[in-house]
Amino acid sequence: MHPLFNAPSQPLKVMMWMNHVSICDSILDVLKKNRVVPLVAKTSQAAYKIWESEKPDIILMYLSTSKNEIFDLIERIRILDWDPSNRKTAILLVSDTEQSEDLDMCLLAGADDFLIIPFSERQLLKKIRFTGVRSIKSLLPVSSSLFMELLDIFDPTMKEHSLNVALVAYEIALDLAEKGKFASFTNGDFVENIFYASLYHDIGKFGIHPIVRDKVGKYTTEEKNEMNRHPIIGNQYFSQVLENHPDEPIWHMAQKVAMYHHERFDGLGYPYNLKGHDIPLEARIVAVANAYDNLTTQKTYRGKRTHHTAVKIIKSEASISFDPDVVEAFINKESLFVFNESKKNTLPITNELE
Ligand SMILES: [Fe+2]
Repeated sequence: MHPLFNAPSQPLKVMMWMNHVSICDSILDVLKKNRVVPLVAKTSQAAYKIWESEKPDIILMYLSTSKNEIFDLIERIRILDWDPSNRKTAILLVSDTEQSEDLDMCLLAGADDFLIIPFSERQLLKKIRFTGVRSIKSLLPVSSSLFMELLDIFDPTMKEHSLNVALVAYEIALDLAEKGKFASFTNGDFVENIFYASLYHDIGKFGIHPIVRDKVGKYTTEEKNEMNRHPIIGNQYFSQVLENHPDEPIWHMAQKVAMYHHERFDGLGYPYNLKGHDIPLEARIVAVANAYDNLTTQKTYRGKRTHHTAVKIIKSEASISFDPDVVEAFINKESLFVFNESKKNTLPITNELE
């Protein structure tokens, strides 16, 4: 099971070292609620020992705890854990301010990311998940890892979207599996595989002419028709992949996701007009994850919807655009999916934990 997530068999391990009691307790509460294993260090020596023996997925440190010791600890860990493509532990800093030389120094020394106080419970969970994604690239199948590296170079926006969709799809699939829904599909490796398969859902867009694909602004009807070919192109790509790798379940799943993620439950989607359960489950899941990320992302032709509005829209589309069981699973997990909330929605962590 993917170690990034709070899957029952292998929960995420997060080590904390921070001298601010109320922040530490607040974060501990959040982690425990989300089935993350918290490991607490009181000193830098203890933090290093825990890192050596437990190899936590993420280390969380409050920058004001002891700047020099934090810097030394990051350097020490990164000397041994130097290869970014094979890194086991991500380092996430908690800071009072973004304008800080100490923060810059720690990032240069090898910290992966930071969170600014105050932050909400949802922002903390999002950061933990994304920091984890970046740090465990070695655990992705090699091709998925390479694909993410390439997207980073050629289309960082698509990379962010692909990861968002993969994370939401994973959580939806996990909820369905936990509830025993569609058990004949969601048993085995389905939940883990959907994470990887979803990363490629829009791969067919690379076959669309760049003038259309990269257009800023709303598409004309012709351009829209051209863009709507991307599921067909994705299908063609994976047909070629499967000729050489016919026994790889992830590529079979990725093909279904790429082909069918724009189908609608009522049969009015594209390009194949499949209806209801004729649309493969993995594509019904990715359709919801894709819609959520698109709704909450700023487009050149419209503003982004808030998380609350996006959830409302998806709920209203149950049995119309989306499979109602998948929507229900999405609603069960929606509090985890706040990916693009604006800063004005930020709540102090203490408010949300009270
Ligand atoms: Fe798409």
